[in-house]
Amino acid sequence: MSKFELNDWVLLTSQKGKKWLVRVEDAPYSSHLGGIHLGDVIGKEEGDWLLTSKGARLMLFKPSLQDYIFGMKRRTQIIYPKDLSAMIFYGDIHPGCVVIETGIGSGALALALLRAMCGRGRLISIEKRAEFAADARENIRRFFGAEPENHQIIVADIESASLSCEADRIFVDLPEPWRAVGNLAGMLRMGGLLVSLSPNVGQIQLTHRQLQANGFGDIVHFELLRRDWKVDRLRARPFDRMVAHTGFITVAKRVSADRGDPIEESAPENEVE
Ligand SMILES: C[S@@+](CC[C@H](N)C(=O)[O-])C[C@H]1O[C@@H](n2cnc3c(N)ncnc32)[C@H](O)[C@@H]1O
Repeated sequence: MSKFELNDWVLLTSQKGKKWLVRVEDAPYSSHLGGIHLGDVIGKEEGDWLLTSKGARLMLFKPSLQDYIFGMKRRTQIIYPKDLSAMIFYGDIHPGCVVIETGIGSGALALALLRAMCGRGRLISIEKRAEFAADARENIRRFFGAEPENHQIIVADIESASLSCEADRIFVDLPEPWRAVGNLAGMLRMGGLLVSLSPNVGQIQLTHRQLQANGFGDIVHFELLRRDWKVDRLRARPFDRMVAHTGFITVAKRVSADRGDPIEESAPENEVE
C-alpha cells in the first residue's frame, strides 16, 4: 500500500462523512472539528486516522475522481457523477476510441472520459471560452500529474469549427446543443454515438428534431434519480432531501442519410432496458 508523501492530495473524512480535500504540506489545517498539522499525514497509509486538537478522528484517503471533481476549481456547472457514470457507460467509452467533447467547461466530463480511455485513443475537447479551457487544462493536469498525451483542447465555437477527424463518439454539454448538431454530424462516423446532457425539456425537444434532421437514429432520452438512504441502528429510510434534478441524457446513433422516408411509428412501449 502506498504511503502519503509531501504534495499528495489527501481527503480528510470525519466520522459523519464530512470531507475536506487538501494538499499534504508542512502547514497547519483547521476545521470546526479542530486543528491538525498536515505534515503528520506524511508516512501514513490510506484508511489511517489522525486526531484533531478537539479529539475528533479524521480518516485519511486518496481522493477518487468523484472527490476530486467536487474539490477542483470550477467556474461552470459540472456534470454530476450519477450522470457522468451513465454517460460513460451508455456512450460506450473504451480504451482506443476517438472522442470529441464540447464544451469542456471545468473539465469534469473530460476527466471521466480520459480515465475510462486509459491513455489510449484520442480525446478532442472543443471549448468556446479560452478562460474555461485554461481552467479545465489545469484541473486535468493536476489530477493526472501531467497533461495526458491523448488529449487536445481546441478553443473554438463548435457551431462553426471544422475538424478533419472522424470520431467514434461525441459528447455534448452546451446551452444550445441543437445549434451544434448539424456541424457535429459531419465529425461522427456512421454508427457512432452522440451523447448529450441538458437540464431543460425544451433543449431536448429542439435537439431531438435536429438529430432527426441530420442523420441520427435510435434516439433515446432519459434522466436518472439518485436517492440516498439514512441507515443507522434505529432507522433505514430515504434522506429528507435529495438532488432531485440535474439533467436529461440523450443518446443517438449516426445512421446513413439514404434511409428512405421516415416511417411514422406508434409510441414505443415503456420498456426497461
Ligand atoms: C456547462 S459547461 C460544460 C461543463 C463540463 N461538461 C464539465 O463537466 O465540467 C458548458 C460549456 O460550453 C461552452 N460553450 C458554450 N457554447 C459553446 C460553443 N458554441 N462552442 C464551444 N463551447 C461552447 C461554455 O463556454 C461552457 O464552458
